[in-house]
Amino acid sequence: MPGTTQANQPHPSISPEQAAVEQQLVDTVVASFDKTEDPRLKQLMQALTRHLHNFVREVRLTEDEWTAGIEFLTASGHITDDKRQEFILLSDVLGLSMQTIAINNPAYTGAAAATEATVFGPFFVADAPEIPLGGDIAGGAAGRPCWVEGTVTDTEGRPVPGARIEVWEADEDGFYDVQYTDQRVAGRAHLFADENGKYSFWGLTPTPYPIPHDGPVGKMLESVGRSPVRASHLHFMVTADGLRTLVTHIFVEGDPQIEIGDSVFGVKDSLIKDFTEQPAGTPTPDGRDLGGQAWARTRFDVILAPARN
Ligand code: BEZ
Ligand code: FE
Repeated sequence: MPGTTQANQPHPSISPEQAAVEQQLVDTVVASFDKTEDPRLKQLMQALTRHLHNFVREVRLTEDEWTAGIEFLTASGHITDDKRQEFILLSDVLGLSMQTIAINNPAYTGAAAATEATVFGPFFVADAPEIPLGGDIAGGAAGRPCWVEGTVTDTEGRPVPGARIEVWEADEDGFYDVQYTDQRVAGRAHLFADENGKYSFWGLTPTPYPIPHDGPVGKMLESVGRSPVRASHLHFMVTADGLRTLVTHIFVEGDPQIEIGDSVFGVKDSLIKDFTEQPAGTPTPDGRDLGGQAWARTRFDVILAPARN
């Protein structure tokens, strides 16, 4: 495979002799992994080598560009800690996170199609407070109240009693609780579906917000004219014995950011839901008094695929 262009043809700007020198190096590096005991590790390292070399050869990477790439990765490492993961952000904005999800969560249809998965994001926290059915996840987070309800079933239409539903979202200023420095727990909770698989809770009507963009990934997005803003969404993780764990979110129909583009490519048509505006004074489903505030409501029926073997 001497070629280095997209069609695997020899690069037009180089001589056959130069192409042979370059290919010789690729072959030598690939062969250096030949003795790897773990066959999967061997496959990963050899394919990674081939693809990286192919990239460098196709674009005819300059030494300055190589240095800039190393500096970018170094800066990404420096800003990464237990709260900030710049490499996952990089994977997200390159669409690699969504591609990995697509590969590992193929569409599953029984009598009904399983709910689609989307990107996990960095703001999930294990052990968020438990709320009862109909409870409020806001915990003081600012935003327009939103009644969320639905049913958890399997792909044969059977209810999943007791399914565990984790939900988390940003406040109306576009921040998750963990982005504040005061240790607040807000905009997140878990609850369990009832004996008929039904669930409901009060959340906040999602609003658009940017992914953390004060680091190298944000700088990169700026230099290529891309926005860091995510389409408005509410995160879910649903787990139940014998069924595939679903990590997903729902998006707000009519949110202009869906058309503009979600910075991490997480939107799927099936996950766009109607969040119906309810004018101030509209009676609430559970009789809750919202003090004359307008609210919204949405429905999200979750369908879980069978667990993988
Ligand atoms: C989020 O949805 O919260 C998120 C996802 C990917 C990167 C950054 C944030
Ligand atoms: Fe999010």
